[in-house]
Amino acid sequence: MGIDIKISPSQDAIGKHAAKRIKQLLELKPDAVIGMATGSTPEPMYAELVRMHKEEGLDFSRATFFNLDEYAGLRPDHPESYHAYMQTHLYDHINADPAKIHILDGKAKRLGNEVLTFEAKIKAAGGIDLQILGIGTNGHIGFCEPGTSFNSRTHVVKLAQSTRQDNARFFGGKVSKTPEYALTMGIQTIMDAKRIILLANGEGKAAAIRSAAQGPVSPNTPASILQEHDNVTFMLDPAAAQSLDRSVTRGTRRP
Ligand code: PGA
Repeated sequence: MGIDIKISPSQDAIGKHAAKRIKQLLELKPDAVIGMATGSTPEPMYAELVRMHKEEGLDFSRATFFNLDEYAGLRPDHPESYHAYMQTHLYDHINADPAKIHILDGKAKRLGNEVLTFEAKIKAAGGIDLQILGIGTNGHIGFCEPGTSFNSRTHVVKLAQSTRQDNARFFGGKVSKTPEYALTMGIQTIMDAKRIILLANGEGKAAAIRSAAQGPVSPNTPASILQEHDNVTFMLDPAAAQSLDRSVTRGTRRP
């Protein structure tokens, strides 16, 4: 129990450390099941994984991948879909087996079936060994917005206004063009992962990181439930860690 905090000098350094953890896992367990996240934060992690594949021969062929979330209503080939994000940042450049890449389909005819099938696939794969997470400025993980039940499994969600504002930068700066609904792993789905690494950088995330790491465990800050997981690391830059009490950061190893 308790969150392990690691502070790195930059977003790039965070990405490199997270990629190293994925590499270590794949070396130990080539058929590992890995949960991936999108957003600006993990981009350097994906760049490093691609480098590791190209320069060091890191093999992804036996691994299975699940993505945390996807916008509802966007076709997989929409440039801002998380399908497209994952192809562009990772899957187009490594040797992952397409049959082992699972991303929720935001255009599925029956979204209710899509979320159930996704859960069943995670179960059939033996559960997630390592889940990568970002965090929203409102404390969300995946698209589990404040108020989401800690017991939730993969579900359809109406996005919080703050999330749509945060993500409008990908939709021409227009909240009105930003999807209103999404599909996301649930909080219990995330908590079932054997190991979790949450990445955050920049002062805009400092308040959310403080609430997540040392606030009360409450659905108001979905990420606060991570305090109850027994294998969680927050990889932060100094700006994202700036509001944590010294008692939390004292003695943190700089990876
Ligand atoms: P970001 O998104 O990496 O683009 O800040 C993180 C999140 O909303 O989980």
